[in-house]
Amino acid sequence: MSAIPVAPGTALCRIGQMDDPGAQEYHAGASASVLVLREGERVTAYLNRCPHFQIPLNSRPAHFIMAGKGLLMCAYHSAVFRFSDGACVEGPCAGSQLTQVAIRLEGDLVVAA
Ligand code: FES
Repeated sequence: MSAIPVAPGTALCRIGQMDDPGAQEYHAGASASVLVLREGERVTAYLNRCPHFQIPLNSRPAHFIMAGKGLLMCAYHSAVFRFSDGACVEGPCAGSQLTQVAIRLEGDLVVAA
């Protein structure tokens, strides 16, 4: 089980600064980050760690690959994850799950809950 690397109340990003659909990374120390995903009014957050090899989903800073409506692709071996629940729906770790990070919205601000 992965520990969530952000304390409750930590401001992660602003929705108004994200693409729609879009992804934003919050760095929580040297080796961990939180991935915030936005599609319309819906915002979800997960540890930025692919369950396939336990490495970040992006190979370049702040660059995430959209794979269709509400879907994100890991940059390494193309596993595809749903924004809505973090489930891997295609690829080498199909059936696995991203680790959800609880959030709340304070206006435009996405905050760890
Ligand atoms: S590390 Fe993500 S699909 Fe292999």
